[in-house]
Amino acid sequence: MTSLTDTIAEIADEMRAETDRGQVANYIPPLASVDLGRFGMAIVDAEGASHTVGDAEEAFSIQSVSKVFGLTLALNAVDAGLWSRVRQEPSGSAFNSIVQLENENGIPRNPFINAGAIVVSDILVSHYGLEGAQSELLNLLRPLSVDPDTIFIDRDVASQEEETGFRNKALANYMRTFGNIHNSVDETLAFYFHQCALTMSCRQLAEIGTYLMTGGLNPRTGERVISTRNAQTVLALMMMCGHYDGSGSFAIRVGLPGKSGVGGGILAVTPGVASVAVWSPGLNTQGNSLLGTRALERLVQHTGWNVF
Ligand code: DON
Repeated sequence: MTSLTDTIAEIADEMRAETDRGQVANYIPPLASVDLGRFGMAIVDAEGASHTVGDAEEAFSIQSVSKVFGLTLALNAVDAGLWSRVRQEPSGSAFNSIVQLENENGIPRNPFINAGAIVVSDILVSHYGLEGAQSELLNLLRPLSVDPDTIFIDRDVASQEEETGFRNKALANYMRTFGNIHNSVDETLAFYFHQCALTMSCRQLAEIGTYLMTGGLNPRTGERVISTRNAQTVLALMMMCGHYDGSGSFAIRVGLPGKSGVGGGILAVTPGVASVAVWSPGLNTQGNSLLGTRALERLVQHTGWNVF
């Protein structure tokens, strides 16, 4: 039988040979300057063994993958109170779309589109304050990794997000007119931009994803990170909404709950079996990693991890 390490080495070779690698995000220089040739993949399995290939140790900007962790923190803070301010339905729209808000009273469809993640950020700022929310986020994530100290928020990325984030400012201001942003737009967005600027390697991202593999526990310490019910909720939302208007095709091709980011990372989880992170900075037209998705599709073909 082929080992997992051999399987991902084979997948990495296939990905290296691909000539269509998509386009890197170009709205800020730290993302635009990333080498399109990068590819890394990491798996942490239910026994705690980690398997890595390629650039799995290189730090990258996880961007919207972080929305999973903001949501986790907010569910721990306010639990079901969240769901009166953000819904649990697929949007079928682009990640930064504003159109549904007008007809839906400023309540975003789900916590993974930008509008929804901004409401989650607002809830966290109300609960913890701006600085407090950033520390809580790092305190949530770091104990899940074997080398926590290298997981950080890149302040330069956050400030460039702020300088160029006109669409996010529009979303936040628009939702504020409906009363669905309670803090100042600047403060709420400051948290959102800092969360997007979380930086870590694929291996660290796969380690962090293990709490969703275990029904909410940190498998290394046995500590509870989130309730089992809320872990299931996060996974269900990842399946339905984690890739925006590409979520349906991701569910069919890969068959795993997954969350993407414009830095080219994807976190995907097979409950009870594995937490997988992949990074390839070139994006498809929906802003999801082109080869990251293909690599996950190949992994699932090899392993049978498709949850369906
Ligand atoms: O707020 C934004 O638009 C970016 N900082 C993050 C968007 C993102 O990662 C979308 N995912 N694919």
